[in-house]
Amino acid sequence: MAAETPLFSQAQTLENDEAVREVRGIMALRARGSAPTALVRTYGCQQNVSDSEKIKGFLAQMGFSFTENEEDADFILFNTCAVREHAEDRVFGNVGALKNVKRRHPSTLIAVCGCMMEEEKAAERIRSVFPFVGLVFGTHVIHRFPQLLLRALTEEKRVFERGDDSEDREIAEGLPVRRDGAVKAWLTVMYGCNNFCSYCIVPYVRGRERSREPQAILEEFRGLVRDGYKDITLLGQNVNSYGKTLKTPVSFARLLRMLDEIDGDYRIRFMTSHPKDLTKELIDTIAGGRHISHHLHLPFQSGNNRVLKEMNRGYTREQYLDLIQYAKEKITDLSLTSDVIVGFPGESYEEFLDTVDLIRRVEFTSLFTFIYSPRTGTRAAGLPDPIPAEEKSKWLRELCAEQEKIAAVRCASSVGTVQRVLVEEKNPKTGLLTGRTDGNIIVDFAGDPAFIGSFAEVRITSARNWILGGELA
Ligand code: SAH
Ligand code: SF4
Ligand code: F3S
Repeated sequence: MAAETPLFSQAQTLENDEAVREVRGIMALRARGSAPTALVRTYGCQQNVSDSEKIKGFLAQMGFSFTENEEDADFILFNTCAVREHAEDRVFGNVGALKNVKRRHPSTLIAVCGCMMEEEKAAERIRSVFPFVGLVFGTHVIHRFPQLLLRALTEEKRVFERGDDSEDREIAEGLPVRRDGAVKAWLTVMYGCNNFCSYCIVPYVRGRERSREPQAILEEFRGLVRDGYKDITLLGQNVNSYGKTLKTPVSFARLLRMLDEIDGDYRIRFMTSHPKDLTKELIDTIAGGRHISHHLHLPFQSGNNRVLKEMNRGYTREQYLDLIQYAKEKITDLSLTSDVIVGFPGESYEEFLDTVDLIRRVEFTSLFTFIYSPRTGTRAAGLPDPIPAEEKSKWLRELCAEQEKIAAVRCASSVGTVQRVLVEEKNPKTGLLTGRTDGNIIVDFAGDPAFIGSFAEVRITSARNWILGGELA
């Protein structure tokens, strides 16, 4: 069980230390410039972004600095996503384009990791079609990255590593992290997914659900607050089932309350919530929290009960709407966002219209909309799918047009209010500061760049599409 082997053994840590030292020595000689340079490109969701930050943590320990330019890099790593075919095609295209980089700079080591590399077919394609890729590894072995990199640099042959079942159950604590930002941070609270929604590849490429111990999360969280992070997002594929596999189970709501007690000037977000596990206790916790943002990302995927059942989502449209109603009553300024799939196999136009009806009822701030993409190995991939792609695209456009209207009305309704905005940067084109509200909506306003990285009270004066304009209150 995850609870019995949550931490890394001392031996594992020492092996990493040893490998870090050796790679540092090798790369100091092998680098084309005065110091080794790495390019890490991340595809997919925040879970991958967070994994890349750990890999970059190791690379920084090995003496690497970072670049966005393929021509400068001594080491190139693509961290990939398998969730839709389009995402995979993009990766194959971009890996293919590295062939010329490798020709120009033969000493550059090219590596591919992430969710796609947990799919045998995709890893096999890299092996046979892209011989210039020297290192391939899956999501379960990131904690052994230094050893894998060392092998790829010293062994004659290419290195392919996917890990075994035991690594699917472990949680590696204490890995170095090099965060991309200084204001916003990702904090993974759980790994994997047990839900097996019938369309989804994630449970196959990320393994079973396992939660970090609350103490480890609290420690990392305190460190982030101490370091001045202002917007901390807790990550998991289904955060609402956090803690169920721990030796001493802890609910996600309880975890949130423990974090919220930590003093400081920051806000907490979390994603993703699954409607089947979202409790009223959690909604009450958000409502009563000091730092918990009034924003809920709650994917519903479809507004039709037959389709939801086929998707194996575990809730009905009515249950979803009930939750939303309760949440809106308790948190009157709640901002809701969601994910939707259009054109699930066998979905009819009438069933699709139930999805359109649902978004009208809920009034989401924004939606992430996807056309169904068959994933080999999932149950839905075997279902008859008679609706042509052009038809599905038409439905998607219809849905997006409806959502645009809803978002415009929602945004306009915030004109005149004062919002607490976390200021992220100065837009070089407009000269305006830009930041996000508690509900995660972008706001532009004129102000002193000294505000960057802190909260400002901003009166909203205009709304165009999804972006608000304002002035310091
Ligand atoms: N764990 C999260 C989502 C992870 S994947 C959840 O349960 O909500 C992110 C989104 O990608 C999903 O919410 C879904 O809308 C979409 N998605 C997943 N598999 C897909 C597929 N095969 N085709 C199209 N969209 C898909
Ligand atoms: Fe995929 Fe469903 Fe798990 Fe989300 S909850 S990752 S959609 S299987
Ligand atoms: Fe993609 Fe893996 Fe995330 S498949 S959506 S990067 S968990």
